[in-house]
Amino acid sequence: MAASDYARPPKNPDSEIWSAAALSEAVRRAGKEATKAGPSTERSQELPYFQRYGIENERGWESSDRTSSPLEVQQRQPYFLESSSLRGEAHPSTTSLGIQARRDFPALAQRVNGHRLIWLDNAATTQKPRVVINKVHRFYETDNSNIHRAAHTLAARATDAYEHARSVVARFLGSQSPEQIVFVRGTTEAINLIAHSAGQRFITEGDEIVVTELEHHSNIVPWQLLCERSGAVLKVLPVDDRGNLRLDALYRVIGGRTKIVAVTQVANSIGTVVPVCAVSAAAHSVGALVVVDGAQSAAHFPVDVTELDADFYAFSGHKVYGPTGIGVLYGKRNLLETMPPWHGGGSMINQVTFERTTYAQIPAKFEAGTGHIAGAVGLAAALEYVDHVGRSAIERHEHVLMEHLLETLEAIPLLRIVANPDVRAGSVSFVVDGFEPARVAAHLDRHGIAVRAGHHCAQPLLRHFGLVATVRPSLGLYNCLEDVETLGACLRRLVRSS
Ligand code: ALA
Repeated sequence: MAASDYARPPKNPDSEIWSAAALSEAVRRAGKEATKAGPSTERSQELPYFQRYGIENERGWESSDRTSSPLEVQQRQPYFLESSSLRGEAHPSTTSLGIQARRDFPALAQRVNGHRLIWLDNAATTQKPRVVINKVHRFYETDNSNIHRAAHTLAARATDAYEHARSVVARFLGSQSPEQIVFVRGTTEAINLIAHSAGQRFITEGDEIVVTELEHHSNIVPWQLLCERSGAVLKVLPVDDRGNLRLDALYRVIGGRTKIVAVTQVANSIGTVVPVCAVSAAAHSVGALVVVDGAQSAAHFPVDVTELDADFYAFSGHKVYGPTGIGVLYGKRNLLETMPPWHGGGSMINQVTFERTTYAQIPAKFEAGTGHIAGAVGLAAALEYVDHVGRSAIERHEHVLMEHLLETLEAIPLLRIVANPDVRAGSVSFVVDGFEPARVAAHLDRHGIAVRAGHHCAQPLLRHFGLVATVRPSLGLYNCLEDVETLGACLRRLVRSS
């Protein structure tokens, strides 16, 4: 089973699998199989996009034709990776995906401290492909205007581009309609929006809000603030010592007073993949809303909000190869429609008088002021890029890299990997005896390798493991086996120097 399958509902929803014990056992078993077997055969037989469309030129695929749907563009345009060597191969090796994709990212062409840049800080932010950079550049050069406001040509172009971006995001997430997609600055802002708006609408004193021990601070603090405002109580779903969410605790922690369950799909610090369907089933069984933090999942495997039965799902553009300052909140229509606005201002109103204001329909109701228009346009280009590479292909590729990364790290003396979850995506944390994490990261940086060291905005989880900081390499689609080998060699040299 692959990470994406882990989040899907069980095949037979009538079975006793929905009981806590059976669910926990089934999910655990599936996770073990996943670690042993790797991605499923069914998935490996999917035809990669670069084989389906061929590779013709070095210019890069352009998604600027706003009169065509992305699908038409995709079918007409050649794939952009410079991988003529792959043509005709039945199954290009998964590692070649990283090598080929690397060429699409100008930042990765540079040398840092005299070495080829190896970007293993993807959980913090990803580098941007040329198609995204070009798209944002071109928007400012030719289409820049405010949107939804004026009757001139550039306003029409900019509005079309922005609304096209919303449709691209809706398709990327499996949202039933673009109106359910709200543009925000990022995951943090999306969660704050829900905590304020849904909090005001649905939460009263004595209600319970459940988070997990795996969360990033941005999926803890907004709920604490809501608890302070409303008198609600924060409850925590624990993890076990391998870093898995304790599914046996689901029906103990989630109960009759629970109104919101906020859960990450992938833990940013240790990479645990959470079986979100199990959590949403438990939450929905007591009528609670489910908020999924997708900041660390959207770039790594296919996500479908309908399959997850998420009431809300949030992710950040900059972690999916898009610009910074743009992110997405998906919400179920009936919820978004009944929730009050969060920010007041231009665009979000229907009629304003000094006595009373009425509000616009969704999603405008939640988009006060001028948003990051170029950011939305760049985000759409990024998501189209990701879908052209193929999210299942990216998942397979990163799975192979992750297995190799874990084997490489395990073989290094004095190095201890933090947590060993059943299914992992994106990130790994480790510590090296006798070396502060910041010193390890600085050593790697001297060799051109970027990783994050610190608490990763997940202090409660690190505390669970008795730590205040770790070193965290995290993978992206442009990483390759050579990156992992170089990281390993560099760490071995550091340890030998002690
Ligand atoms: N949330 C980002 C990280 O995990 C910044 O590094």
